[in-house]
Formats: sequence, C-alpha cells, structure tokens
Amino acid sequence: MANFKEGFLWGGAIAANQCEGGYKEGGKGLSVSDMVKGGTHSEPRIFTPTIDEAQYYPSHEAVDFYHRFKEDIALFGEMGFKVFRMSIAWSRIFPNGDDEQPNEEGLQYYDQVFDELRKYGIEPLVTLSHYEIPYNLVTKYNGFASRKTIDFFVRYAETVMTRYQNKVKYWLTFNEINIGVLNAGGLLSMGILHEGTREMFNPIDDPQIRFQGLHNQFVASAKAVIAGHKINPEFKIGCMIAHMTMYPHTCNPSDVLLCQHRDQIMNSFCGDVQVRGTYPGFIQRHFRENGISIAFGDDDEAILKAGVVDYYTFSYYMTSCVSHESGKEFTAGNLMNGIKNPYLQASDWGWQIDPVGLRYTLNQLHDRYGIPLMVVENGLGADDTIDQSGNIHDDYRIDYLRRHVQEMDEAIADGVNLIGYTMWGCIDLVSAQTGEMKKRYGFIYVDKDNAGEGTLERKRKDSFYWYKKLIASNGDEL
Ligand code: BG6
Repeated sequence: MANFKEGFLWGGAIAANQCEGGYKEGGKGLSVSDMVKGGTHSEPRIFTPTIDEAQYYPSHEAVDFYHRFKEDIALFGEMGFKVFRMSIAWSRIFPNGDDEQPNEEGLQYYDQVFDELRKYGIEPLVTLSHYEIPYNLVTKYNGFASRKTIDFFVRYAETVMTRYQNKVKYWLTFNEINIGVLNAGGLLSMGILHEGTREMFNPIDDPQIRFQGLHNQFVASAKAVIAGHKINPEFKIGCMIAHMTMYPHTCNPSDVLLCQHRDQIMNSFCGDVQVRGTYPGFIQRHFRENGISIAFGDDDEAILKAGVVDYYTFSYYMTSCVSHESGKEFTAGNLMNGIKNPYLQASDWGWQIDPVGLRYTLNQLHDRYGIPLMVVENGLGADDTIDQSGNIHDDYRIDYLRRHVQEMDEAIADGVNLIGYTMWGCIDLVSAQTGEMKKRYGFIYVDKDNAGEGTLERKRKDSFYWYKKLIASNGDEL
C-alpha cells in the first residue's frame, strides 16, 4: 500500500506563456515572454525589444490552449486529475500592467477555464506570475526595479482573487521566485532590462538592482498573501521555489561548506523570507561581502512578517554537485549548470536524473519549514517519436516519473507532509529555456515542431494511461 493520503492532489502543470498562444487576442497586451524568439538545443533564446514579424516567437501561438482548453481539460479529466496548475497571463487582465481597470474579456476567459475544470472536479492551482510580466512595465518602470510595480502586481492579484474567490482556492504568487538570485531571473522573472541585453537567460546584469527587485517581489508577494486572506480566509497561498538540490562533490570540508553556502543562497534564502517572514543571517553576510544593500520601505519588515505563505511548493528536475576546486566537468541543468555527479545518468538535455534526491529534498524542506509541501513541477523533457501505428511509447518518461513517485511515497513514510504533485508540462508545451517543442514533457502529445509547424492535434502517449491508473489507485499502481 502506498502512503499517499486520501485526497492527495495528483495533477499536472503548465504556464500561460508556454501554452496559451492567442498573444494578441481578447485584449491581451504583450508580456516579457512574447518578446523572446525561439532558440534551439544549443542556441540561446534571444530577446528582442520590438517584435520582428519575420521571426518565430514560440509564445505567440504556443500550443493554442487559449482556443483548445476545453479539449485539453477533457483529457486531464480523463486521466482523473485532482488538480491543475496553470498561470494567469497578467497581461490578459491588465494589458499594460498599469491600467486602472482590468480587461473584462481576459477575466471572462479564465472564468470559462475554471468552470471547465470544475466540470471534471479538478481543483485549479493558480500561479499569479509565471515569467509573464506585462512588457509595458518593463519599458516604462524597469519592472520590479521600481516599487511602483509592487502596487501594479497587488492590484492585479486583488482583482483576480476577488473575481475568482469562489472558483479558485490554491494560489501561488511568483513562479520560481529564487531565479532572481541568478542573473537569469533579472528580465524573465522581474522585468528588469539593461540596455544591450540579447540573451533572455543571460541578460546584462547589475546584482544591486536585481536583489532590490527581488526584495520588491517579496513585498509584492507578501501583500498579495495578506490581501488574499482578507478576500477569502479559505485561500491557501503558497510560494514557489526552483529547488536546485546540490551535493558536495567530495567529503572534503571545503566542498561541504561551499555547497552549504550555495544551497543557502540558491535554495533557502527566498523560502526563508516567504515562509518565516525575515531575511536570514547568511544573506546579510552575502550582501555585505558583495556590496549589495537593500532599501526597505518603512512597513516592509511588518509586511513580510504578516504575509507569510500557507504552504511551500517547488520545482524539482535534477541535482548537481559543488566543488571548491576548478577544472571539474560540468553538466547542464534547470536554469543553472552544475558539476557532474558520477553516480547519475542525465536526460538528453543533460539534466541529471535523481529520484532519491527528491526524497532527500522533501525531508530537508519538511524539517526546515514544517508546513505542507507540494511538488508543482517535475518531469522529463524528451524527444518523443510516433510509431507507424500512431502510438507514442514513452517508457523512459514513465520510468522517470515512477521513480520520483516512489521516492515521494518514501518521504511521506519518513513523516513529510506532502499534499500534492503536479507533473510539469502535462501536455507538450514550449520549453522555457530553449523555446523548442521537441523537448516534450507531456502525457499528451501536440503535433507541432521546433519551427512552429504542425496541426496542433493532440494524442495520448503511453504515459497518459500509466498516470491515469496511478491516480485511480492513489499511487498504488506504479
Ligand atoms: C521551470 C519553469 O524552471 O522549468 C518552467 O518554471 C519550465 O516554466 C521548466 O518550462 C522546464 O524547463 P524547460 O527549459 O525544459 O522548459
């Protein structure tokens, strides 16, 4: 018997900019992700300050969830999803970000999506901002570098939380807020743009401005939590961290200490602020030693304390190692590289697969925070092929997922309070880092290629049937 409690939230996850398309429809404004051209496995994604109509921008059509959500939700219903993690495109609701009034057509769109989910008994889990800051806030205010953006975000959060107060219970404020610790988060997550930036995931960077932007995001998140709890005290509002689990490369104390330091900055800093409501001591030292100073508004300390989250969610794909010595072999990973671990195999995109690391991570997080946990992203990006009979035998994906589910089961037996699991990219979608379609995660195949060609037809993969059984048996039938 598996250890998943009755009511465990099994489901899948997507983000608006990687799925919806319809980028100019229904009164939607441009978002930062609409300004990024498609990349490839090896070429970076390029940000363009204006849209060049001759180029291919994957988010503009994505997989057309905007028009096909009914068909897609029916498939999620068929698999028996209990929960569906999605994001609202901020620029569908406030096309310019700083508008006084929301766009009614955008609000109506999500009314329909939530109603459709309810039809199948699927609980929506909504990320307010998943790499989708309205582009006008970038050009006019430099995104979260300005405190004005805090107010725009809170207005947006209050608007959607009020509108959907009877349709949505689970909310997340910012997707992978800790990407702001890396330069990769400057433009993508915070909308901070320095002149000369070309590569979306490697923009021109100023850590002082970036960490101030991250502080402003913390305040925005806390204010949204406070407002949300007033709108509906039943709301569960969480944080979302990209968990980059890391191990010391050797038992040399210098490796262990450096690993602990990196782990604190990358993984614990943001969670500590959002769960505990204060800046931890280690980050104060890091700021002192790196010449960073954060300007706090008069009420910020109190706001951070009052706006702590109800539950902690995270993405988990891979792990890597840390060494104090140079010259070690590196491997690719989610948002950052790391040193290769000789005990792990990697995906075709070089991400090291580590199911046991998920159990380790869940235990660590449980011990640190003691609040409910949810894995809201986990999955395998792979290049699926359709055989002659039109089937997609993705046994490698089933294997990846099965092994991760087994370790979640173990973690629950260890005493971890894990309440849900949403597999990333439950339907094939545009890869965030590469812009490819070929890097597929889904239980559902979408006929579209890297150049944007295809019928958009949906097909069930073998993993679709596997997940359906897993959910029906609440984790018993692995
Ligand atoms: C996470 C993001 O970092 O990783 C998702 O929240 C993203 O938006 C996912 O899609 C997988 O990364 P990629 O680059 O394979 O799409």
